[in-house]
Amino acid sequence: MILCANPLAQYLVRKKEIDDAVARVLQSGYYILGPETKAFEREFAGYTGVRHGIGAGSGTEALHLAIASCGVGTGDEVITTAHTAVATVSAIVSAGAVPVFADIEPDFYTIDPAKIESLITSKTKAIVPVHIYGQPADMDAIMAIARKRGLKVIEDCAQAHGSGYKDRKAGSFGDAACFSFYPTKNLGAAGDGGMVLTNDPAIAEKAGLMREYGWKERYVSFMHGWNSRLDEIQAAVLRVKLKYLDADNALRRKAAAVYDRELSSLPVTLPRERPGSYHVFHLYVVRTPKRNMLMESLKKIGIMPLIHYPVPVHLQPAYKQSAPLPATETAAGEILSLPMYPEITDAQITAVCGAVKKFFNGEL
Ligand SMILES: Cc1ncc(COP(=O)(O)O)c(C=O)c1O
Repeated sequence: MILCANPLAQYLVRKKEIDDAVARVLQSGYYILGPETKAFEREFAGYTGVRHGIGAGSGTEALHLAIASCGVGTGDEVITTAHTAVATVSAIVSAGAVPVFADIEPDFYTIDPAKIESLITSKTKAIVPVHIYGQPADMDAIMAIARKRGLKVIEDCAQAHGSGYKDRKAGSFGDAACFSFYPTKNLGAAGDGGMVLTNDPAIAEKAGLMREYGWKERYVSFMHGWNSRLDEIQAAVLRVKLKYLDADNALRRKAAAVYDRELSSLPVTLPRERPGSYHVFHLYVVRTPKRNMLMESLKKIGIMPLIHYPVPVHLQPAYKQSAPLPATETAAGEILSLPMYPEITDAQITAVCGAVKKFFNGEL
C-alpha cells in the first residue's frame, strides 16, 4: 500500500533521537509549557525569521489565539479562502468574527488578491491567507491591500513550514502567523500542536496570556483566556524534527520533480510554483475532470490518494454562504493529492505514475 502521507516512516528514520527526546521529558517530571516548549518556541521563531513564538495546543488553536490577539472579535469580518481546511474558518468563528470568502487563483489555489478589495467593508478587520499545499499566497499583493486599508494579516502556515517567497519564509509577512504540527505536516509532532509567530510584542503577550486562562501569574487572570498549551513531549519531538526540516523539504521537492517528469505527457494539470516562491510540497496536487474515477482506480490497487478538500468551506452545512466561488468550486471537483512525504521512494512514485498512465490508457 502507498499512503498519501506517512508519519510512521519519518519516526522510523529518526527513531533513536525521538525516543531519547521523549524519555528525557518523561524523566524530567515537567510535562507542559516547560523548558522544551520555551526552547522550541525560540528555535522555530528563529528558523522562520520572526521574533516571538507562542506554542499552542493545535493549529486551529494557534489561529484562534492569533486572530483574537490581533484584536479581531465579535461581529468583525475576516476575509479568507474557502479552499482550505475547515479549521481556518472554524478559528475565525471561534474568535466571534464572520468569515467572508474570496475566490482563489486557479493556478496556485491560494486566495486571489484581485478578489479581496471588493469584499472589504467598514466591518473588515483582517485577512487570513492560507499558504495551501506548501506554497505561499501572493503576499506582496495581499500586504499592499492590508496596509492601504488598515487591515491585520494573519497567515495560515499550517501547510507551509519552511516555504518561502522572495527570500523570506512563510510566516514572516503578516502581523501574525499560525502553524500546525499535526503529525502529517511538514513539521509534524507525535500528537497535536501549534504555534503563533509574530514580531509584535503586544500580540505575543496577548497570545501568551490567552493560551493559559489569561494568567500573568498563576491563578490570576488578566484577560479572558482558555487552555491551549503545547506539551513538553511534542515540543521535544518537534525540536528533533526541526533540525531536518530543510532536508525533508528538499526531499519533498525532489519527489515532486520526479512526479512532474513522469506525469508531464499525461492529461493532468500539474502543480505550479509561483515565480519567486519556494514550494515545500506539503501535498502534490494534480487536477483532472476524471478525478473521481482516477481515485477509485488507484485505491483498488493499494495507492491511497486523498482530496484536499472535497467540499469548500462556503458549501459546508455549518458555514454555508450563497455567493458563488467559481474557481474554488471547479478545483474542488478536480483536485487529487498523490502520495507525498520525504521518505517516499522513486520506485513508489514510479508505481503511482505508472498506474496513472494505465488509467489514462484505459488499462486500469
Ligand atoms: C490550512 C490549515 N489550517 C489549519 C489547520 C489546523 O491545524 P490543526 O489540525 O493542528 O488544528 C490545518 C491542518 O489540518 C490546515 O491544513
